[in-house]
Amino acid sequence: MKTRVVRVDPQRPDPAVLAEAGAAIRRGELVAFPTETVYGLGADALNPKAVARLFEVKGRPPDNPVIVHVAGVGEVMEVARPDPRGRWAGLAERFWPGPLTLVLPRREQVPDEVTGGLETVAVRIPRHAVALGLIRAAGRPVAAPSANRSGRPSPSRAEHVLADLEGFIEWVLDGGPTAVGVESTVLDLTCEPPMVLRPGGVTVEALEEALGQVRVHPAVIGAAWGAAGAAAEAGVEAEVGVGAEGGGVAAQVREASELLQRPRSPGLKYRHYAPEAPVVVLEGSPEAVAAAIRRRVEGGQAGRLGLFITEQTLRLLLQAWSSLPGGVAVFCSGDRSRPETVARRLFEGLRTLDRERPRLILAEAVEGRGLGLAVNNRLRKAAGGKVERCDGLP
Ligand code: TXA
Ligand code: MG
Repeated sequence: MKTRVVRVDPQRPDPAVLAEAGAAIRRGELVAFPTETVYGLGADALNPKAVARLFEVKGRPPDNPVIVHVAGVGEVMEVARPDPRGRWAGLAERFWPGPLTLVLPRREQVPDEVTGGLETVAVRIPRHAVALGLIRAAGRPVAAPSANRSGRPSPSRAEHVLADLEGFIEWVLDGGPTAVGVESTVLDLTCEPPMVLRPGGVTVEALEEALGQVRVHPAVIGAAWGAAGAAAEAGVEAEVGVGAEGGGVAAQVREASELLQRPRSPGLKYRHYAPEAPVVVLEGSPEAVAAAIRRRVEGGQAGRLGLFITEQTLRLLLQAWSSLPGGVAVFCSGDRSRPETVARRLFEGLRTLDRERPRLILAEAVEGRGLGLAVNNRLRKAAGGKVERCDGLP
């Protein structure tokens, strides 16, 4: 199949192009399109055959449900029911259109292919003129996972979509690089307190402010997150925000291990975002991370190495080396004190370094606040959990 690639203005897309792409969705075809987070691969959410093909071309396990995208708050209740506490509307007002996905009870007309057979459905209104225009032109809810092959880094540019899916999908709307760079935050409103199943474009801090209390699924948090991360690694669910409350650690461990056995978000259990090369996450101060990299490179047995590091760490390395040693490829991830800059370059960095065919990619973690939580989560998943703590080493 020939994939049709059409450039669109990200702010003011041509209505004629959107109308044609919308008609393609209605015919059951697959259309990749930009959102503010990453590119999505869209199909008619009410057409089980189209959704089944979506899973097939991505190579996605059928039990990992996809997000349903709608263009207005009035359409949310066509696919979902209100959460028990009726909190969805307030969150919608505050965060939509935007990078927040709400898990709500489903309506029957949503096919099992979309929800993976769950009783819930994930919904969001994206903040991107092309995405909104496409959904409106299609005239129905659009099921859209990230437009990458399953397990690969998500696409933040149309080129990434083509690298994975050219020849397998009908359309790519190319609206340039995406703004946020990591996917939406997935928040489950069917439990109490609400639980973040995937950190993303809306920060946990912002959700806490809106809801008072949220929990973060233990699988989300790792060592990069200080005490809470250590707790998660020990199997304890981390309480975010308003200090630890009654029940004690034992109760939390029980609850957390139960959660881990029965993941609420099937996506939590799969390896993700992975380049071909193995990845190791380096955690610690720029000084410690730079020292760990120097030990590897100057030891002389590193082989071809890809470095995904912040400008702070890069500066330290360049002070030590007059030029980059042979066999070392660097992608500067951004400013360590502004994790949103790293989020924007994350998937592009992993894909770019991978093209150099390194033996190993070393990726520097950032501070776990704001978008840093999502960045560290994606890096850890790309590394299959391989994290090296560099602090405390000479
Ligand atoms: O930013 C995004 O969310 C992008 C753009 C295209 O909107 N989409 C995206 O979709 O990242 P996907 O399919 O790659 O990730 C969807 C996530 C998965 O982790 C999945 O397990 C979870 O949402 N999910 C979907 N439906 C769910 C449900 N009913 N309950 C719990 N988790 C669900
Ligand atoms: Mg995905």
